Amino acid sequence: MGSHLDTQPTGGKFDGVLGVLGALEALRTLVEAGYETFAPIEVVNWTNEEGARFSPAMTSSGVFAGAFDRAWAVSRRDRSGETFGAALEAIGYRGPERCGAHPLSAFFELHIEQGPILEAEAKDIGIVTGVQGMRWYEASVVGQDAHTGATPMHLRKNALVGAARLVDKVDAIARAHPPLAVGTVGSLEVKPNSPNVVPGEVHFTVDFRHPETAVLDSMERMLFAAVAEVCGPLRLEATATKIWDQPPVAFDAGCIAAVREAAAQSGFSAREIFSGAGHDAAYVARVAPTAMIFVPCRDGISHNEAEFSSKEQCAAGAQVLLQAVLNYDRALAERHAR
Ligand code: GLV
Ligand code: MN
Ligand code: MN
Repeated sequence: MGSHLDTQPTGGKFDGVLGVLGALEALRTLVEAGYETFAPIEVVNWTNEEGARFSPAMTSSGVFAGAFDRAWAVSRRDRSGETFGAALEAIGYRGPERCGAHPLSAFFELHIEQGPILEAEAKDIGIVTGVQGMRWYEASVVGQDAHTGATPMHLRKNALVGAARLVDKVDAIARAHPPLAVGTVGSLEVKPNSPNVVPGEVHFTVDFRHPETAVLDSMERMLFAAVAEVCGPLRLEATATKIWDQPPVAFDAGCIAAVREAAAQSGFSAREIFSGAGHDAAYVARVAPTAMIFVPCRDGISHNEAEFSSKEQCAAGAQVLLQAVLNYDRALAERHAR
């Protein structure tokens, strides 16, 4: 059981944290009750789920699942040039245990929904059946630094004008694949970022998401075409590189059933839901039967300090987490006894 404790620059205190503290609460409850499970239970805090400082997201669960090479992951750099490995060492988190040394019989992650669906339908619990696919790109547009007063418009190579048109294209590409596609430029770095210099260099990120690989392929083709189409006439050099490709994930039927049964046993209203956000569970699903539990959050707001779920909503999630783990554990024990 577990989730992550890292956050976004303006993140709230529930995204990730609920899944770790909820798991801890479930574990404490088992210990207090003196209940011994068939399979040993652990709580995990996956490092760097957000990818806000070190790209890509879900780095540690990705290494655990074999999606990323360990050496590649620890060599990832933040904007100041510090590596992920050095940052882990600095906080004493680069432990000695060999990644993936012990297999998991199952993994359950509790999380806030981060969207508006459960609240709108007044459901207590989301039975998460999968996670949509997501791709990240890093784009660079290069023109020429020049004096804003002395350089006529037709002789400029303004990288920010190219980037601005591409930001609009990313939005348009997602809107061209309704109703489920989403596309975002969330980070933009302008150089030299001075009022009287025509910007010579811009770097930005693109985040595309959709439940179907074919749609993501179409969005990707449109992005690469847009880069050439926009930057050629502006005499700008531009590149867009895919740095992360997380395919859509379907969770394990047995784990989903354990969550569904847990919600019913606990007397909570529930519905099935597909996750729009990325989660460590999406990678863990490659190496262990996995499912997730969502609870509603106010106005569906997340990646925002206003993020909020009530104590009762959080408690309901932790209760279903505990019950789902017990249901799955009992089924494991029965299978083993046969
Ligand atoms: C993680 O928060 C993500 O969905 O990007
Ligand atoms: Mn999260
Ligand atoms: Mn997040």
